[in-house]
Amino acid sequence: MLNVLIISDEAKELYELFKSVRFARQDSKQKGDLSGNNSVNLSKYDIAFLDLNTMGWQQRLLELRQLMPVIAFSKPDIKMAVESMKLGASDFLEKPLASEILSDVISRHRKKFLGHKYGFDEIIGTSKLMQEVFSLIKKAAVSESNVLITGESGTGKEPVAKAIHKWSPRDKKPFMTINCSAIPDTLLESELFGFEKGSFTGANYTKKGLVEIASGGTLFFDEIGDVSPLFQTKVLRMLQEGEIMRIGGAHHIKVDVRIISASNKDLMSECKKGTFRDDLFYRLNVINIHLPPLRERLEDVPLLVEHFINKHAPKRKDMLIRGISDEALNVLIKCSYPGNVRELENIIERTISFTNSPEILVSDFPSYLLQSPSQKRSFTPRLKEELAALEKELIWSALQESRGNISKAAASLGIFRQQLQRKIKKLKIAT
Ligand SMILES: Nc1ncnc2c1ncn2[C@@H]1O[C@H](COP(=O)(O)OP(=O)(O)OP(=O)(O)O)[C@@H](O)[C@H]1O
Ligand SMILES: [Mg+2]
Repeated sequence: MLNVLIISDEAKELYELFKSVRFARQDSKQKGDLSGNNSVNLSKYDIAFLDLNTMGWQQRLLELRQLMPVIAFSKPDIKMAVESMKLGASDFLEKPLASEILSDVISRHRKKFLGHKYGFDEIIGTSKLMQEVFSLIKKAAVSESNVLITGESGTGKEPVAKAIHKWSPRDKKPFMTINCSAIPDTLLESELFGFEKGSFTGANYTKKGLVEIASGGTLFFDEIGDVSPLFQTKVLRMLQEGEIMRIGGAHHIKVDVRIISASNKDLMSECKKGTFRDDLFYRLNVINIHLPPLRERLEDVPLLVEHFINKHAPKRKDMLIRGISDEALNVLIKCSYPGNVRELENIIERTISFTNSPEILVSDFPSYLLQSPSQKRSFTPRLKEELAALEKELIWSALQESRGNISKAAASLGIFRQQLQRKIKKLKIAT
């Protein structure tokens, strides 16, 4: 059940109304008028309902929205509704509040917070480490600060970025992903900032850049650790000045975006090496969310396996895959997953395509999973080579499955076409 905070001079009556829709917790401390009661422990609440017809509501709204979604309500008043939304209210309701409307708005928020028993949206985990990540996501969602998501490849940085946006007051505005390593320096400015018609040969129309398109929403710089010095300078300038100019443009355009970045590199040591600007690093890394590798939270494996079976089983049209045998699950709980959750998902997806039984069995697994621990990949000094070998193996089978179609293979691996092309070249994979 959600813990609902009601701030209103009519809190007593409202509490009865919330109780009738069975959302307010039966907690004697919550009964009665909470307005003006500053001793309330705010951190235990999931959502707040703030009456705008109470004194000092603006200040309260600004405080509360740092901690939880705030639903504003008042007598019909468009000006107030707009002001509250501008200050960060997640929704506005008109008085008198009706139980159906309350049910509807709370259900929507309940879905956001409790969409999954053990996680948020698409991000699953029962481990303590992941519970910490969830609480950071919650905090990041209600704040306006920039967020840097770090973690090894395949730990789920992208779904975390999307979840932060989805739960933020910006959720009705765009979420734009910029795959940093896919934009060459020559196209950087036109992609990010756009151009005016006639500004260069071939500019036959005015084009908005990604930053402008994301206005009011969130800009996700994926793989920020891979960008060139020029890219870094351009982004830093944008953050410092809070405005951009289209190529060939005559005036500045104010930027209203929240930046979330992700990197599988340790950006702090990149700064020390001088390959990443530390002034940019500090601006991006206001809130850091570090995603732990799967091998440090193997207790998440059973739930992830169940999640991926449900996700991929419908692809088998000829057979209903119901689950996994205990023995097979045991094998999966003992793996070390250099490719993290992505590797686990890949194993499940592949196994589902090849199995001949409604239950996944040990015999369905690729042979490398079944080697004895001493034969298994070790993480010690040769991690890089081992990762490259695994990457090569996964790319090779994806290419085989797609019969050499790079776009399809990239989609099945969950990466961009250009990234796959680069990896093919780097790993010298014959296509
Ligand atoms: N906790 C999780 N619950 C459910 N799915 C997850 C989880 N973590 C990762 N995934 C899934 O694993 C896959 C890999 O995640 P993602 O692409 O976000 O990795 P990444 O951290 O961005 O890696 P890279 O640095 O290689 O880009 C995705 O399909 C994602 O949905
Ligand atoms: Mg990624």
